[in-house]
Amino acid sequence: MSIAYLNGSFLPLEEARVSVLDRGFVFGDGVYEVIPVFGRTIVRLGAHLARLQDSLSAIYMDNPHTDAEWTAIVEGLLERNPEGEDRSVYIQVTRGVAPRDHFIPKDIEPTVFAMCRPIPKRDVSGGVSAITHEDIRWQYCNIKAITLLPSVLVREEARRRDGSVEAILIRDGLVTEGAASNVFVVQDGVACTPPKSHRLLPGITRDLVVDLLREGGVPCEEKDVPESMLRGAAEVWLTSSTMGIAPVTRLDGRPVGSGTPGEVWRRADALYQAFKKQPVNN
Ligand code: PDD
Repeated sequence: MSIAYLNGSFLPLEEARVSVLDRGFVFGDGVYEVIPVFGRTIVRLGAHLARLQDSLSAIYMDNPHTDAEWTAIVEGLLERNPEGEDRSVYIQVTRGVAPRDHFIPKDIEPTVFAMCRPIPKRDVSGGVSAITHEDIRWQYCNIKAITLLPSVLVREEARRRDGSVEAILIRDGLVTEGAASNVFVVQDGVACTPPKSHRLLPGITRDLVVDLLREGGVPCEEKDVPESMLRGAAEVWLTSSTMGIAPVTRLDGRPVGSGTPGEVWRRADALYQAFKKQPVNN
C-alpha cells in the first residue's frame, strides 16, 4: 500500500483526508512540486525546493518547512514506499482550511500533502506527436500553481485531435512551453529553448538539459522561439521530470524534420541517460 504524508504524519494514501473547506479544494489556492527520484538519487532537490519557495512567495504564503524538514519528508516517503527504478515525489501545499472568502485569511495553518509514485515506464525513443495551441493560461506561469484546468484542457485537446501526447503553447507568436513540459527546438545544430520568464515554468529538467548540453559541448541557447522557428525546426523536444527528453516527430499531423528522432536529440538523451545512472547527480 502506498504511504503518503499529510500535515506531520505518514499514513496510507487511502486514509489521507482533507476538509472540503480547504482552499485548495475551493479556490485551487495552492502550489506543488514534482521531484524525480532515479534509483536512490533525488534529482536536484535543492532546485525543486527553491522553486517551491518561489511559488509560495509568489502567492503570499510562508514556507511551512525548512529545506532540512522537506528533505526529511521526501526521504521518509522514499523509505516507506517500495523502491522502484524511477519514482516521483509529489508535494502540494495549500493555504489551508477556512470559511470561503476570496480574501486571504490570517493565521491559517497550511495543508501539506506529499506522496510517492512510480514514474510509468514510457518508451519515447521512437518519437511522440504533439499539437500546437494558443497559450490560454494566465500571466503567472512561473508559479507552479495547482490551478491546472487550462493545461488539462489543452492536453485533452491534443489527445482528442489526433492522439497527441502534448500541446505546445504559443503566446504572441512565441513558443512558451508544453501543457506540462518545456520545449527545445533544434535549428542549424543549435538546441534553443525559450528564456525563463513569467510566461513559463522554470523547468528543472530544462535547466538540467541546458547544463548537460553545455558540458557535453552541444551548442545550446536560451532565446525566444517564434512559431515559424518551431514549424521549420529540424528537431523539437519536450522535457519534464516524468518524461525526460522526448523527441517530437509529428507536429500538428506533419513530420518534424525527417520525421524520426534527430541526431542532436540522440546526443542529448545519451547525456541524460548517463546522468540518470550516476550515484550522485545534483
Ligand atoms: N510538470 N512546464 C509545465 C507547465 C509543467 O507542468 C512542467 C512539469 C514542466 C517541466 O518541469 P520539470 O522539468 O521541473 O518537471 C514545464 C509536472 C511534471 C507535472 O505537473 O506533473
